Amino acid sequence: MTIEPMPVPLEPSPAAAAAVFELHGVRYLYGGRQTALDGIDLRIERGERVALLGANGSGKSTLLKLLDGIIAPSDGTMRALGRDVAAVADGLDSFRFHREVGLVFQDPDVQLFSATVFDDVAFGPLQLGLAQDEVRACCDEALRQMDIAHLSNRAPFELSGGEKKRAAIASVLSLRPDVLLLDEPTASLDPRTKWVLVNLIRQLGEGGKTLVTATHELEIVPLIAERVVVLGENRRVLADGRPAEILADRDLLIRANLIHEHLHEHGGTSHSHDHDLEHHEAE
Ligand SMILES: Nc1ncnc2c1ncn2[C@@H]1O[C@H](COP(=O)(O)OP(=O)(O)O)[C@@H](O)[C@H]1O
Ligand SMILES: [Mg+2]
Repeated sequence: MTIEPMPVPLEPSPAAAAAVFELHGVRYLYGGRQTALDGIDLRIERGERVALLGANGSGKSTLLKLLDGIIAPSDGTMRALGRDVAAVADGLDSFRFHREVGLVFQDPDVQLFSATVFDDVAFGPLQLGLAQDEVRACCDEALRQMDIAHLSNRAPFELSGGEKKRAAIASVLSLRPDVLLLDEPTASLDPRTKWVLVNLIRQLGEGGKTLVTATHELEIVPLIAERVVVLGENRRVLADGRPAEILADRDLLIRANLIHEHLHEHGGTSHSHDHDLEHHEAE
């Protein structure tokens, strides 16, 4: 079978100097009624590593889907890579957009559907119509970045949770996007697997990619981001700052439902503990 190369525009996009994302008053309602985001103002520059921190239901996944162009704002304006988001919907532009912006879903099973890990990682580059040696180079690089070259002939269902996550990320990295959106990459991983993944994500950031990682795990934030955007339970940006300053602000974290204050009684004296949300949730 011969693969017809698709026309890939090579001229530099006028977006090069613009912010990667620029949102003003963005709202999103599911089914026209269920408010998921309620007035988001946010600007993300090229090369920034941003943690999108928020409790369950605060709108993190919805915001990532907006940034990826899967859904469009119900209200407000949004520009991505210097283009109005309405333009992302049309054919070639959408095609080019998804070479530049990649979303890794929380559930790796959404992203892995082929017989082998290699086929999943090669899917995007093959869709682009790249020459065979280029497809191979993109896949090798993505598999190496996620340190899973040894798993390339495995079936996705034979992988552990952490390996699946890495395969799902590799399947997006093989398109060599400049902007990577990660939805709760460390959710439901054991501690060792989690830190392996955090380290791989950190290396991607150091490689110059723009990274936006949604999470509610405070401990990973300083490693994967130099900026934290906190989504509040009112589905707006509650705070935007450096990890050290955000993570030190207990009142803010309690308000955002990211830590939970428990008052314990021990022999007549009381003291309080902060509890990471995870201890209270079975995901
Ligand atoms: N497909 C959907 N239909 C209706 N409401 C939804 C849908 N997906 C999410 N929501 C609602 O939108 C809000 C934000 O959800 P989400 O973006 O998934 O938050 P997070 O990722 O921070 O947990 C929640 O109230 C959630 O119930
Ligand atoms: Mg989510």
